[in-house]
Amino acid sequence: MRTLVCCLIASLILTIGVIAKAGVEQTKHNFSSSAYSPNAFFWGTNRVCVFCHTVHNADQGSGPLWNHEVDAGQPYTMYDSPTMDMNQSPTPHMGSLICLSCHDGTIAVNSLNNVPGPGGAGTYGTPGGAGLDGVGRLSSSSHAYVGTDLSDDHPVGITYDSTQDTNFQPKTGNGQSYPDKLLSDGLYVECTSCHNPHDDTYSDFLIESNASSALCLRCHIQ
Ligand code: HEC
Ligand code: HEC
Ligand code: HEC
Ligand code: HEC
Repeated sequence: MRTLVCCLIASLILTIGVIAKAGVEQTKHNFSSSAYSPNAFFWGTNRVCVFCHTVHNADQGSGPLWNHEVDAGQPYTMYDSPTMDMNQSPTPHMGSLICLSCHDGTIAVNSLNNVPGPGGAGTYGTPGGAGLDGVGRLSSSSHAYVGTDLSDDHPVGITYDSTQDTNFQPKTGNGQSYPDKLLSDGLYVECTSCHNPHDDTYSDFLIESNASSALCLRCHIQ
């Protein structure tokens, strides 16, 4: 009995250790590397969070303690279809712009508002990764490249309103329950509705498992 309890405690500690380690540094969103290698994104760097966040001089209008350069004036071709019923804004909202600031390929992944060390706006580290062009932007050949043409991507910039389309789950008005908890600022369908940039447990940084299309059915009824 005592051995069993010991084993249980040992495996519990192991599990906690594993859970505690699974963070952004174990994902493709860790771009740091001290030395050059063909797979290193930015060598001469040792910070992980700084590509997206800073503790000082953050761009609070864009995202939480946001550090990556964002071009709020960048035009995008939005998704369009005759069967759309909800209101779509002419450009994505911040819950998508912060992702697109890297994924549309127009801004270098290491272009920051507050570079560690010297501080101030500039670039951090030297581009080396295969998915990048010479100045550190995502290249169009990368699997992660989305581009500025969003017409072939799931619509974003949508104000979720199930009263406009009965094939959608009704809003609850409670940010803790579905579908509301997936909406950016409690209102919009954006990249962050389906993706969690810190956690790759479900691959492709999905916010939760999409087995049996469960994620789709949080909003769609069919
Ligand atoms: C590739 C970009 C990226 C990296 C790297 C990154 N984050 Fe984030 N983080 C985001 C985005 C985007 C959001 C906003 C998510 C949302 O609104 O759903 C966010 C939100 C947050 C928040 C607000 C609370 C939350 O979870 O929504 C905290 C705290 C945070 N990040 C901490 C960190 C820390 C600590 C690190 C480094 C260990 C880190 N992040 C690395 C992109 C990143
Ligand atoms: C600071 C730049 C940056 C930001 C901000 C950022 N990403 Fe990324 N992301 C990248 C890069 C670069 C890669 C490719 C990494 C690789 O290929 O190893 C990537 C990879 C990914 C992948 C995996 C693609 C694959 O090839 O498997 C997904 C999905 C993704 N990002 C979604 C998002 C979403 C959604 C957001 C916003 C919530 C976001 N990213 C914010 C730079 C960024
Ligand atoms: C409605 C949910 C949803 C929204 C909104 C969404 N994605 Fe995704 N995304 C997914 C799913 C699901 C996958 C996995 C697709 C697969 O495995 O084929 C994915 C895959 C990706 C990938 C990996 C490459 C690929 O094409 O499979 C990237 C990069 C990505 N998304 C970025 C984004 C960005 C940036 C936005 C916002 C402009 C966004 N996503 C909005 C659900 C979404
Ligand atoms: C956060 C809520 C949400 C999630 C999750 C979601 N969607 Fe959507 N989806 C929407 C909204 C809102 C629209 C726009 C509906 C409208 O305007 O009538 C839409 C539109 C679409 C359309 C285009 C419909 C048209 O009329 O052209 C397709 C197809 C679609 N979604 C498929 C998916 C798939 C597949 C998934 C799962 C990977 C998914 N959606 C996940 C909210 C969501």
